[in-house]
Amino acid sequence: MAVETINFGFLLVPLQLLDLAGPMDIVGNISHDTVEKYGGKELAKTAPQINFFHIASTLDPVPLTGGFLAKPTTTLADCPQLDYLLIGGPDPAYAANLPQDMRDFIVERSKSLKALFTTCTGGLVAAATGVLDERSATVNHTLSEAGREIGPKVRWNWTLNWVVDGKFWTAAGAVAGMDMLAHWVEVSYGKDLLNFSTMLLEYQPRDVNGKPVSYMNGLGDIVEV
Ligand SMILES: *[C@@H]1O[C@H](CO)[C@@H](O)[C@H](O)[C@H]1NC(C)=O
Ligand SMILES: *[C@@H]1O[C@H](CO)[C@@H](O)[C@H](O)[C@H]1NC(C)=O
Ligand SMILES: *[C@@H]1O[C@H](CO)[C@@H](O)[C@H](O)[C@H]1NC(C)=O
Ligand SMILES: *[C@@H]1O[C@H](CO)[C@@H](O)[C@H](O)[C@H]1NC(C)=O
Repeated sequence: MAVETINFGFLLVPLQLLDLAGPMDIVGNISHDTVEKYGGKELAKTAPQINFFHIASTLDPVPLTGGFLAKPTTTLADCPQLDYLLIGGPDPAYAANLPQDMRDFIVERSKSLKALFTTCTGGLVAAATGVLDERSATVNHTLSEAGREIGPKVRWNWTLNWVVDGKFWTAAGAVAGMDMLAHWVEVSYGKDLLNFSTMLLEYQPRDVNGKPVSYMNGLGDIVEV
């Protein structure tokens, strides 16, 4: 069976490092080569080959938290077709004044993506573009006011750790974003790869209500919103 190849993009807004790093390592650890190396050929059979793209307006380094400089690997204009895009969380003021090229990119790419993920205030970035209008979504629960201001037409949910509405997956905080990506790994590729990816990171995910779960019980079904 041919190995599935997926293109996974990270939008380099000036975000919180963990919003990017946590999900990236969870997803990266189900990459075919990694699974084959650490988990063996049998487990690797279902693991996709993953190409990562780190995308910004220009190729200039983007300052993330802690003074960490992230080097984009492609630009908004040159980025190839993507299957998945993740937007981490910048300062809410950045989302409120989202640069036009970022806005256009998110709106345009949302049409062809298999899923758009946001973690923490990345939900405000997506909301600012209108792609979450009339949809259920969440963002860090302490930011309900900013949510209503930036995305007045979004059906905000302040209960769940993450919300799935069609192709739009929005998580509350940075670690909720890790939980959400772990859940995506499970529903897309199964419990064995969920276990593999989370165990490699010594990471114990929580379910959609914030309750810790054991690796092999998994995180459950997608909750209807
Ligand atoms: C997966 O996890 C292992 C062990 O923690 C690490 O060495 C490797 O770099 C990770 N792979 C990816 C693609 O993130
Ligand atoms: C929201 O952000 C605050 C402050 O950074 C943090 O303490 C809290 O855990 C976050 N909550 C959620 C649900 O994301
Ligand atoms: C989970 O993964 C770890 C290492 O990746 C492995 O040692 C363990 O046997 C796995 N557990 C199950 C129940 O598959
Ligand atoms: C969020 O969604 C859950 C699950 O559908 C629901 O029980 C809860 O009432 C919703 N909360 C809000 C504030 O909409």
